[in-house]
Amino acid sequence: MRISVIGCGYLGAVHAACMAKLGHEVVGIDVDESKIAALSAAQAPFYEPSLDDLLVEVQATGRLTFTTDMSAAAGSSVHFICVGTPQKKGENGADLTYVDAAVSALLPHIRENDVVVGKSTVPVGTASRLALLVSEQEPLAHLVWNPEFLREGHAVADTLHPDRFVYGVSDGNEDHPAVGILDEVYAAPLATGTPRLVSDLPTAELVKTAANSFLATKISFINAMAELCEAAGADVTQLADAIGMDDRIGRKFLHAGIGFGGGCLPKDIRAFMARAGELGADQALTFLREVDAINMRRRTRVVELARELCGGSLLGKRITVLGAAFKPESDDVRDSPALSIAAQLQLQGSVVTVTDPKALTNAAKRFPELHYQKDTDRAVKNADALLLLTEWQEYRDLDPYELAGFVASSSILDGRNVLDPAKWRAAGWTYRGLGRP
Ligand code: UDX
Repeated sequence: MRISVIGCGYLGAVHAACMAKLGHEVVGIDVDESKIAALSAAQAPFYEPSLDDLLVEVQATGRLTFTTDMSAAAGSSVHFICVGTPQKKGENGADLTYVDAAVSALLPHIRENDVVVGKSTVPVGTASRLALLVSEQEPLAHLVWNPEFLREGHAVADTLHPDRFVYGVSDGNEDHPAVGILDEVYAAPLATGTPRLVSDLPTAELVKTAANSFLATKISFINAMAELCEAAGADVTQLADAIGMDDRIGRKFLHAGIGFGGGCLPKDIRAFMARAGELGADQALTFLREVDAINMRRRTRVVELARELCGGSLLGKRITVLGAAFKPESDDVRDSPALSIAAQLQLQGSVVTVTDPKALTNAAKRFPELHYQKDTDRAVKNADALLLLTEWQEYRDLDPYELAGFVASSSILDGRNVLDPAKWRAAGWTYRGLGRP
């Protein structure tokens, strides 16, 4: 099939490459010339494992091209909208500027039987509004909402082998003409048994925000338990293991630590609350305010623990932060709890050095006042305390005996609870986890 993908960020670039991998002829379109130049040279403009290899592989087939020219969408029968929906400045709601701009730029190029497929995370009600614009332009074209659930760091696998497909169509019916067309797009993963649900437009939009809200709630739940464990002298990691063995609860997303960040969960729960308010259903989501508050409290707690580790004062203390990305296997620092903690420590008078295998360039753009050092050995040299805040494998694998030779004081705060406390203590370290004795 001929497919256009509008918006080539984390979502769109991966989607375009994966659609070409599935055998389709794909054009990726974005207004950002530097992004298009990089992608045209088969280089991902961000770090995502295996994406560069996939870009090289599919571009060699001639099935994947990139351009800034929207008229390249003409001739495609399926148009994916993959632009960002960031949080509005100073408000909780989602900024739909890019979605609206993408759809209005696309409209002149759609023809009868074309399907416009929304993948961006949008406030419920957006799809119906866009469906109207599409049908005003071309009564025989369709708009479908097909939310994307990919995780950064696993984006290629999540796109090629998703847990499920959700198609939101105007009448919510299986026999809607757009259903068959999307089935053709996803023929390969569907053939392997991937479940596919057809719903109406608002349900499809809500599936995405509800899923992200549930994940955020799960993380804040275990972080609230960590607060309680700290107060009671209990161990949240054992608690999570034990409750996670109940199938109804599950161990995934029960890792207590410095909390969630990134370009999705924080802004999605806030946009969801804002939208609920507009719909007069704000009471239904007031718990998300608490989820957000628990999450933000983790950052303050870590700063306090770091102060304790440094003997009661942060002034002039040399602190090394291991990890800047919002999670491992990503160079994304949007709302990264690690960086936000690093900046707080700096504001309170410590000398902070941040290290990370992939995210230092992005981190330095956001917080130029922090010191950055790529090499871990150099970054930890003479440190008064280490803070492990993003659980990259290389930090999990650090040898406490070897590391002790570099630092000024053998103190470590494990913000992700991924180190073995007994091993570090045996090597002479003062070890502090979160929600652990
Ligand atoms: C998330 C959703 O998982 C994905 O389905 C959706 O499409 C986009 O948003 P992503 O932002 O890539 O994906 O990251 P995710 O793996 O969900 O992690 C989000 C944050 O939660 C990270 O900061 C991570 O460190 C944190 N986290 C995750 C925890 O603190 N504890 C956990 O147990 C799990």
